[in-house]
Amino acid sequence: MLSHVPVLLGSGLIAGSYAFSLQFTSPTTCCSLLGTEFNGESKVFSPQSAEYGPLNTYWTPAAQQSPTCIFTPANTQDVSRAVKLFTRKNCQFAIRSGGHSYNPGWAGIINGVLISLSDIDDVTYDSQTGLASVGAGSRWTNVYGALLPYGVTVLGGRNSDLGVGGYLTGGGISYYANERGWATDNIHSVEIVLAGGRIITANRTQHSELFRCIKGGSSNYGVITKFVLETVDASTPFNAVSMRYPASSTNEVLAAAYNYCTGGSDSDPKSHVIFSASINGTQEYFNNLLMAYNGVFDVANPAPIFEPYFDGTIPNPTPFVFAANTTIKYATDWLSVRQAPGTRYTMGTVSIYADVELFKTLRNIWIAETTPDLQAKSGFFTEFAFQPVGQKWIDFSASRGDNSLGITSPIVVVWTQPRWNSASDDVDMVSYVNRMLGLFEQAAKDAGKFANLKYLNYGGRNQDPIPTYGQQNILRMQLNKARYDPLNVFGRLVPGGFKIPGF
Ligand SMILES: Cc1cc2nc3c(=O)[nH]c(=O)nc-3n(C[C@H](O)[C@H](O)[C@H](O)COP(=O)(O)OP(=O)(O)OC[C@H]3O[C@@H](n4cnc5c(N)ncnc54)[C@H](O)[C@@H]3O)c2cc1C
Ligand SMILES: *[C@@H]1O[C@H](CO)[C@@H](O)[C@H](O)[C@H]1NC(C)=O
Ligand SMILES: *[C@@H]1O[C@H](CO)[C@@H](O)[C@H](O)[C@H]1NC(C)=O
Ligand SMILES: *[C@@H]1O[C@H](CO)[C@@H](O)[C@H](O)[C@H]1NC(C)=O
Repeated sequence: MLSHVPVLLGSGLIAGSYAFSLQFTSPTTCCSLLGTEFNGESKVFSPQSAEYGPLNTYWTPAAQQSPTCIFTPANTQDVSRAVKLFTRKNCQFAIRSGGHSYNPGWAGIINGVLISLSDIDDVTYDSQTGLASVGAGSRWTNVYGALLPYGVTVLGGRNSDLGVGGYLTGGGISYYANERGWATDNIHSVEIVLAGGRIITANRTQHSELFRCIKGGSSNYGVITKFVLETVDASTPFNAVSMRYPASSTNEVLAAAYNYCTGGSDSDPKSHVIFSASINGTQEYFNNLLMAYNGVFDVANPAPIFEPYFDGTIPNPTPFVFAANTTIKYATDWLSVRQAPGTRYTMGTVSIYADVELFKTLRNIWIAETTPDLQAKSGFFTEFAFQPVGQKWIDFSASRGDNSLGITSPIVVVWTQPRWNSASDDVDMVSYVNRMLGLFEQAAKDAGKFANLKYLNYGGRNQDPIPTYGQQNILRMQLNKARYDPLNVFGRLVPGGFKIPGF
């Protein structure tokens, strides 16, 4: 069955039969056709309109582009009509949910139409089924807030400003991950607009292969307009703590990280830790741990998994409980203010198998590459982090039918995220990240601890995450791509984003 892929691709189906229509229609013509289609509905905005500016904002201005027009559908039917038009006329477009992608052109476009899903943001809860229905253009703050009165929540961003659409289709790391796996595995069903405008619902029994492919498939199969999500109980208090340790505690921090990555997270899956460090413009280095607990938490008497973090085993802790016995909404709203929206950022990732010596090596690479000329740049700040992905996390995902990411044993997702002020420094900052990623990968391979995954949601401008999912997953994704998007509308007409090999 899998051998169909090369046969299909080699048959000339795409390049041959449809060659007559391969030329793109000019973006200005596409925008005026769209304007005609939605005449009088105030959903298509040109750069001259007052609405355009506010609509054309991104979490980081480094990702901002200027679409020829911005389309704001109110519902799935609107999306369907537009995608039908784009398919017929070969109009280029981009899809945006929350606009948190770090990469210019992934949820934006220069010559083309931007579909902004932010008006499709309804959240409803069905207490009979325990499922929440969430519009794909919603942000997590809206979702968490709407579910609060019901005493339930869903797996979503640790920063509540993230959009639902990009986050869920890329995998999704949440505070509940050690109990409930990747957020994408908590999707019950999706409503998706396919190429040509057809609307279907995919779940574990209906279009089940497509459903699996979407979990890691980003924008490659269609525009998702609605996610139906499993909910989790939120009646217990939620706690989140920012822990700071000086540079002199680094070895103990890394030893604790190793313990947490090798069984620690499984021993208390209500816990969640990100092990990060930062360097600012004046070269002050700090270890910054973000710890969360889904339950009552007491600094003087923490859960056993957290004791070494507070009792001096890691010297000189400075705890700051930023969400004390409160809600996931409170904790994630707090972080969304702290994570400096409106600043230039870039991102990059590799994955490794836990190894304390490799942790040190990677951190030393990051420190060495953070050179004084970079630190002198206006607004310079850099972060480096280890995100443990444990066995219970993986097991839960498997229990829900799995996803496309190809993770079957614990890994550590490593990321680095610098920020700076001036557009004129973009090139230097991106090459700084690219240089580090190359060195990280080489060091991990040298140590025999290299793990394939480039986690899509942390993927950098020059990274290619989907090919890292493993051969079996890639073949399944290719087969279903050929089946559900045979004209490759979401490859050909959507220039940005992470693609499936061959599409
Ligand atoms: C400050 C910050 C904190 C973060 N924290 C976390 C975290 O805790 N956990 C985590 O896992 N990740 C995190 N991320 C990464 C985040 O998951 C990605 O940036 C993700 O893409 C954000 O989703 P979005 O909807 O805002 O993205 P967008 O920028 O809107 O879209 C990203 C990609 O997805 C596609 N897409 C979006 N919606 C749809 C749709 N409905 N149908 C089809 N394709 C679509 C877009 O075309 C684009 O290619 C964080 C990022 C930032 C900047
Ligand atoms: C998937 O959707 C179909 C149609 O709505 C429904 O009959 C089926 O029960 C759903 N499957 C699951 C696992 O919910
Ligand atoms: C670096 O961090 C220290 C400690 O928080 C702070 O005092 C200093 O002002 C920071 N420097 C810059 C340039 O941000
Ligand atoms: C949370 O509440 C408990 C009492 O139920 C208390 O012991 C604990 O100190 C509180 N935690 C924080 C961080 O305030």
